Amino acid sequence: MSNSIETFSEAETQIEPPEAFRKAARISSREQYERLYRESLDAPDAFWKRELSELTFRSPWTELVEWKLPHAKWFKGATLNITESCLDRHLGTTTRDKVALLWEGESGATRSITYAELTRQVQSCTAALRSLGVQQGDRVAIYMGMVPEVVVAMLACARIGATHTVVFGGFAAESLRDRINDCGAKVVLTQDGAPRRGAPVPLKQTVDEALRSTPSVQHVVVYRHMKDTVQIQMQPGRDLDWAELLAKHAGTGSSAPANSEPAIVDAEHPLFILYTSGSTGKPKGILHTTAGYLAGVHVSTKYVFDLQPNDVYWCTADVGWVTGHSYLVYGPLSNGATCLIYEGAPNYPDWGRFWQIIDRHKVTILYTAPTAIRAFIKAGDEWVEKASLASLRLLGTVGEPINPEVWMWYHEKVGKRRCPIVDTWWQTETGAIMTVTLPGAVPAKPGVTGLPFFGVEPDVVTQDGQTVPPGEGGSFVQRRPWPSMLRTIWGDDERYRQQYFSDIPGYYFSGDGAYRDKDGYFRVVGRIDDVLNVSGHRIGTAEIESVLVAHPSVAEAAAVGRPDDLKGQALVAFVTLKPGFSASPSAAEDLRQQVAKEIGKFARPDEIRFADGLPKTRSGKIMRRLLKDIAAGREIKGDLSTLEDRSILDKLSK
Ligand code: PRX
Repeated sequence: MSNSIETFSEAETQIEPPEAFRKAARISSREQYERLYRESLDAPDAFWKRELSELTFRSPWTELVEWKLPHAKWFKGATLNITESCLDRHLGTTTRDKVALLWEGESGATRSITYAELTRQVQSCTAALRSLGVQQGDRVAIYMGMVPEVVVAMLACARIGATHTVVFGGFAAESLRDRINDCGAKVVLTQDGAPRRGAPVPLKQTVDEALRSTPSVQHVVVYRHMKDTVQIQMQPGRDLDWAELLAKHAGTGSSAPANSEPAIVDAEHPLFILYTSGSTGKPKGILHTTAGYLAGVHVSTKYVFDLQPNDVYWCTADVGWVTGHSYLVYGPLSNGATCLIYEGAPNYPDWGRFWQIIDRHKVTILYTAPTAIRAFIKAGDEWVEKASLASLRLLGTVGEPINPEVWMWYHEKVGKRRCPIVDTWWQTETGAIMTVTLPGAVPAKPGVTGLPFFGVEPDVVTQDGQTVPPGEGGSFVQRRPWPSMLRTIWGDDERYRQQYFSDIPGYYFSGDGAYRDKDGYFRVVGRIDDVLNVSGHRIGTAEIESVLVAHPSVAEAAAVGRPDDLKGQALVAFVTLKPGFSASPSAAEDLRQQVAKEIGKFARPDEIRFADGLPKTRSGKIMRRLLKDIAAGREIKGDLSTLEDRSILDKLSK
């Protein structure tokens, strides 16, 4: 972690919410925001009781939160099943026949599924999984693409009280295997293949490879999505066909299938595990539980996106990441929204695809990542200018700091200066959005995430926990627990304590650096630990290094990030080879392939730099800050007194 405190000048530009938007917004002034925010901190019980009153709790909570640092229990005593809030509660209202999922396949095919139909499919899937022996408390892995069935799969697990772990379809077999083994999944739900720029990604085949050493898995359920193009092998006794299995549990007429009722669980029942990268070691299984997570995503979806009944809401994130969980599935569905799911790549068949989707489906809210916006800018304005985009009323961004120029392009070219932009800062660990400028309430500042969301109390502090003055950089922390916070790291509570609560005693430390401006807005400058953010993908340098050093040719490796116009950060790996191996472009390519094979293509280093040695302290620690400067082509600054061998720097800089 960096110790240096930098100071920052104020961001100049402020963009007021457009008057038309403000007038109709749920929260339409800073005063209204402040009032609700104060209530959420000072009278949280009243706040949450009112805000969650439309959701389905089978029994109420008796204590809002029990905080025994670093462990929180929220809504103690409450019981519920999250799918009753996301599905059943809508069936008695007009939302019943509203479209829940509006799907567009990469091929251009479309499907629309109402809340009533989605409920029925989830019920069938629930009964089907129960018939395979899945019970409350079991874990189920989901390795699927962006099809409506992935939502059905997640909700069916939740209905059973089985904890799902969705693994992003870009992960390789080894990564899938490790995740399955870490949580001991009993069943894997997958599909034959998922199209990516016209060619199928063979998901089932990857599952077969992963399952060579996963003793906990008893069954695989395969959704046939690309029957005509993807051949798969079904292992008798283990593998089942999704459609056949669900058909057996379809129910008759208007009566629900047998065994499809929701399991009523405790507020703190594990809802899902999502693996993410940390600064050390292997990926961590972030555990989220039921009631607190529901509370966080329900309220944030409603207010951050100013959801209105007729919105067509599109979150472009893959369901394999936390944004997909919170803002493609649970948050929108608990609010009864119509959610668009697009299956394919943003540039397939060309860079106009996103804009055509918005016009075709009359999308009103678009939530995407800076890395996508930067790619659109690079592709040229003509693509976005061809579309009308008249249906849009609100834009959102997430995943990494957004450069002010990129923000302005989004505002002008996509939002036509008519749509507020919400820059939402949060993490896999936080479960829900933590800082934002609520769209009708306060002005936005390009590149600045904004003010705290309800119930959260962020701060920027020194390493000993002192709040720093506005304009000074420091560690971005949370001073109090919040409902949707992670509860632990699956199977490794000590690591949970170490990772999040040991750097700055008493506070949750995010790993990010930030500063606060005079208006109380937070600007997140990025990670200050050894985690990279490459095209919005969170990658631990330690994971990359351990794959590289496992290669027979590699003696030592150090991965660092370098600023990149398109990706935000590019991944540069410095590698020293063992005697007898020599550096060459093909050796570099070999190492990149090794990372693709072990982790996934998205984690391949952008550059491999071979070196005779790495800069180290006298005690043998690699000095990463120097490597970062070298990778970025910057002048090496700062204290070099602990460096063991200065000649290494000259060689590396060449
Ligand atoms: O560094 C921050 C960055 O993404 C990290 C969290 O990554 P992940 O757990 O994969 O979740 C991404 C989606 C919620 C954070 O530690 N980050 C996320 N949103 C922003 C951001 N950085 C700046 N501004 C944001 N709006």
